[in-house]
Amino acid sequence: MKAQRITWKEHFRNALWLAKTTLSVTSWHGVIWVLLLPIIGLSSIVLNYFSAQIVQELIHAVEQHISQMPLALFRLFIAYICTELLIKVFTIASRYFELRKNYLFDEKIQIKKLEKIAQLDIQYHEDPEFQSMIERTSSTLGWRGPNAFVAISNFFASTITSVMLVSILLTLEPIIIILLLIPIYLNYLVDKQSGERIWNIWSSNGEDRKHASHALYGLSNLQVLQEAKIYGFANYLIVRFRKAFANFNNRVIAPLTKQSFHYVLTALISVILFTGIHYWLLTQVLQGNLTIGNYTFYLVSLATVSSSFTSLQRYLSMFIEQSPFLQDTRIFFSLQEKIKKPLSPKSVLQMAPKIEFRNVSFKYPNSKKFILKNVSFTISPTEKIAIVGENGAGKSTLVKLLARFYDVTSGEILINDVNIRDIDLTSYYKLWGVLLQRFAQYWFTVRENIGLSNIEDIENTSLVQRAAKHVGADKMINKLTHKYETSLSTDFKDGVELSGGQWQSIGIARGIFADPTFIILDEPTSALDALAEEKVFTEINAATKQATTIIISHRFATIRNVDKVFVLDKGIIVEQGNHQELMIRKGLYYKMFTAQAKGYE
Ligand SMILES: Nc1ncnc2c1ncn2[C@@H]1O[C@H](COP(=O)(O)OP(=O)(O)OP(=O)(O)O)[C@@H](O)[C@H]1O
Ligand SMILES: [Mg+2]
Repeated sequence: MKAQRITWKEHFRNALWLAKTTLSVTSWHGVIWVLLLPIIGLSSIVLNYFSAQIVQELIHAVEQHISQMPLALFRLFIAYICTELLIKVFTIASRYFELRKNYLFDEKIQIKKLEKIAQLDIQYHEDPEFQSMIERTSSTLGWRGPNAFVAISNFFASTITSVMLVSILLTLEPIIIILLLIPIYLNYLVDKQSGERIWNIWSSNGEDRKHASHALYGLSNLQVLQEAKIYGFANYLIVRFRKAFANFNNRVIAPLTKQSFHYVLTALISVILFTGIHYWLLTQVLQGNLTIGNYTFYLVSLATVSSSFTSLQRYLSMFIEQSPFLQDTRIFFSLQEKIKKPLSPKSVLQMAPKIEFRNVSFKYPNSKKFILKNVSFTISPTEKIAIVGENGAGKSTLVKLLARFYDVTSGEILINDVNIRDIDLTSYYKLWGVLLQRFAQYWFTVRENIGLSNIEDIENTSLVQRAAKHVGADKMINKLTHKYETSLSTDFKDGVELSGGQWQSIGIARGIFADPTFIILDEPTSALDALAEEKVFTEINAATKQATTIIISHRFATIRNVDKVFVLDKGIIVEQGNHQELMIRKGLYYKMFTAQAKGYE
């Protein structure tokens, strides 16, 4: 995120967004809390007023040598007690609603964030800038947002009490207000300057913070911990963490030191001015222009208005410091999908689809390099296709395009002769059974891990069992303590850690469980042993005769029996045909095949 100067108009919009968001997620708890703030402030002014009047009445009674409690004094006394009691009740209520509001905010805002994350396209999630944005969002929603909301609510409350106090002091001497405002303004300038510096540091040192948080995350990740133990690099990570953290902190602390020094100066100016005004008030009493009761009230009001102004300034600065972060999060919540939904989406029939690429070229949004170049092919319904090619040839990218995670840069993808851009993706995804190269491993039970691809039947253990049997995972699962109800994360009670190949068979079972008519397997058996692999393929073929199938694999044994092989080289399809045809051609396929076969001799 670039360092930026934010205009007052934008600050205002950020404040409005924050208030609207917070109040909408905390409902009336938040509203009551906000309203109680000025009520408490105003009650305190009333309390001061009663207290000053009591002094006045007391002096009057003493001067008149009245020893019985005068009725006027008694009434003031009762009013004073009642007000004090009210303030206590309001304060307790305020604390209660504040807690309720905080809990609600925490819960609801995280849900909103998850919903947004789920709504946005995969291409956002592959973008490092977006990842940084999500990371910043965590601190904004965790404490910056709530702090800024406290700031604007108190700013609102302080404005109300300040207006009240100013109108009281105006009856005395207007110039006093101006004198009181001088140190406040100076403080504001100090805060504004250091706030901008801190924001610049935060926004320009993203790398340091990312390093710190990755190191922190890394050392709570089992895979990292295992390697760290064996290679003995835990300390290296800790040092990286410490350096990144210290680098960042050092830069933030410097402006804070300078800020404190400036605060001392403005405090000094403030004390001098306040003393002057107080001295003037004393002379007014001595000259008989002011009663002692009013003197007391004005003096207290002066102190209160001064601290009220200070609060106004502090809250404003507090808000301004957080405002850029709020703006960032506001933008996050307003992000829209990049994959445009068609105006009149066409549903896909629930049967094996025909797939066609017509002169498809593609480069990733933030890159200039074409990953796929002018790719054309047709896959007929129920045809079994394999794609081979070297690492980085563009095979997985092709799958992302088929899933419309990205739109092609040029050319067309047709599903049953309809452009993928006009297709209703929900109906299209219903055809899919997929095992992606980097597939997910859920911390749920075995049953859920398989059942997630067809949520409606996730409770149906016998269906789940059938899918597991198809891919030969059934035996392994039945050996687990709780069989299909075993949790697949050691973070949970009786949870187990599966092997890479076992996970892969769970992943394939998940694909089969979706009852697909379009199957995409991106290196599905790379972690399986040769026997398991053969079995899986026989089973998959038997189970999915009626499905169009694309298999990406580096293992030639796997793909010998497919109908057609596409050979992808640096984004171009250089050969296609079945195994025999390609072997006769003696091209790239032949070269790769014989290289691998040699390894087995
Ligand atoms: N999100 C992305 N942004 C930019 N470039 C990307 C992105 N994802 C992949 N690439 C690049 O696209 C090229 C093709 O990657 P792809 O994953 O499609 O290769 P592959 O053929 O599946 O390789 P492998 O056999 O190793 O799985 C690579 O150079 C890769 O660096
Ligand atoms: Mg790949």
